Amino acid sequence: MSKKVSTLTFQKYKQEGRRIVCLTAYDYSTAKILDKAGVDLILVGDSLAMVALGHPTTHAVTMDEMIHHTKAVTRGVSRAFVVADLPFMSYQVDVKQAISNAGRFIKEAQAEAVKLEGATPLNLETVGRLVSMGVPVMGHLGFTPQSVHALGGTRVQGRSAEQAAKLVQDAIALQEAGVFSLVLEMVPTVVAKIISETLTVPTVGIGAGRFCDGQILVTDDLLGKYTDFQPRFVRRYANLAELCDQAISSYAEDVRKMGFPSDDESFAFPEEEEAKLRSLLDTLSIAQGELSC
Ligand code: KIV
Repeated sequence: MSKKVSTLTFQKYKQEGRRIVCLTAYDYSTAKILDKAGVDLILVGDSLAMVALGHPTTHAVTMDEMIHHTKAVTRGVSRAFVVADLPFMSYQVDVKQAISNAGRFIKEAQAEAVKLEGATPLNLETVGRLVSMGVPVMGHLGFTPQSVHALGGTRVQGRSAEQAAKLVQDAIALQEAGVFSLVLEMVPTVVAKIISETLTVPTVGIGAGRFCDGQILVTDDLLGKYTDFQPRFVRRYANLAELCDQAISSYAEDVRKMGFPSDDESFAFPEEEEAKLRSLLDTLSIAQGELSC
């Protein structure tokens, strides 16, 4: 195994201009595949509400559900750095609530950091307090899915100079509060570039152009497994939905025509034992069906 990734790795990558590879995971087997492929950071994103649980937005996922999935992910990872997403209303009430929920991710699920959306005064205070307690925090600006209703839908953020300047200010405020990294979602390329050049901590883009210090995608989007919609910034590297459909249809056909399982996929019973069994069943007056194998 190559060296375990930590927050220091990301700092080093930024200084060296080396890109950070990030993806989401919600379960053990996916996390294992990503880790083996050399993904640097695995986010247990609250996108699991939509992708794994079928909700229309990220709002419905609970802390308990996030903990359940984060535990599964951390069991599958040995190298990558695992970040757990604080779900909607798990940190917006007050700092105490945020600390207690972030603590659960670290204590119960072995996450190594947490992520929160936005740069409200409360969030800035929360970041500072968590960092002072030894909990690394990842920020998230631009399109923040937990605010989808307030933002009027899934839209690019920072399109005007004034809005972009506010994003830059928020990014600096989060860095000063202590985030180790910052996700920029659906932000114009130039704005993400300016933020990436301004900050000393690495930015991780999703729909934010190629100049971010790293990139993240939802794994199910990249693999073509989640097909409810495809944002413009997603590149599909596989079409798993189609592959799965073909595989499952073949399985169904095999089952229906008794082509599965074969003898090689089943367990044999010695002939002499079968003869004994049949006579035993006769003795017990248990009626036997016709031999059909
Ligand atoms: O929840 C999530 O998957 C995310 C990424 C898209 C950054 O926040």
